[in-house]
Amino acid sequence: MRRALFSLVFASLFAVAADPANNSAEFRKEFLDKFQRTGLSTTPGDAMMLRILIEARGAKRGIEVGAASGYGAINMGIGFERTGGRLTSVEIDPRRAEVTRQNLAKVGLEETCSVVTGDALKVLPALEGEFDFIFIDAAKPDYLKYLKAVEAKLRKGSVVVADNVIVSARAMADYLEYVQNSPDYETVIIRSSMEKNDGMAVSYKLK
Ligand SMILES: C[S@@+](CC[C@H](N)C(=O)[O-])C[C@H]1O[C@@H](n2cnc3c(N)ncnc32)[C@H](O)[C@@H]1O
Repeated sequence: MRRALFSLVFASLFAVAADPANNSAEFRKEFLDKFQRTGLSTTPGDAMMLRILIEARGAKRGIEVGAASGYGAINMGIGFERTGGRLTSVEIDPRRAEVTRQNLAKVGLEETCSVVTGDALKVLPALEGEFDFIFIDAAKPDYLKYLKAVEAKLRKGSVVVADNVIVSARAMADYLEYVQNSPDYETVIIRSSMEKNDGMAVSYKLK
């Protein structure tokens, strides 16, 4: 009995020692502050706006289209962890998908966030269930195709965010025309960061 108790205490001590607090707010903040962002990564201001939108909406099931190395996914994942929700990121490049998975694991978000490797135009129609948040950030001319590929699964009250809508406005003219003029959406273009002189379209799905 005493030996069993000793083993239990020893095992739990070892578990704590072997598991750094990679899910603490302090660790995650430092990890994001030091994150090796590339030109593909979402800016810190935009990433924080995504997190705030997720938390304000109380979103429970989210999709990210285009993950790169996971800077946006980590920021959104923190929001989904707080709402008790989950995020699925879709990334066409297998190497980037793996880097994103590793980065999510480094901050203890592997249970909240999953990464699907593949072309979003094929992956999105195959996703099961309903969603209430989507961040579109992959090939700019395909934004409307991504939205259409998943639109039937977006619940009323979903938040739809599209990145780079100022710099790449021409490439995604059909997307912007659709979300700005469809009676199914209310849309605003916001600038939450001046880093890339760009902006995001935030749409609210009314039906
Ligand atoms: C701008 S980066 C994404 C940045 C990321 N959202 C972030 O917050 O840091 C665009 C990514 O979309 C990926 N991509 C491009 N076309 C895609 C497709 N059809 N399906 C999935 N991912 C795609 C690219 O490989 C690239 O990693």
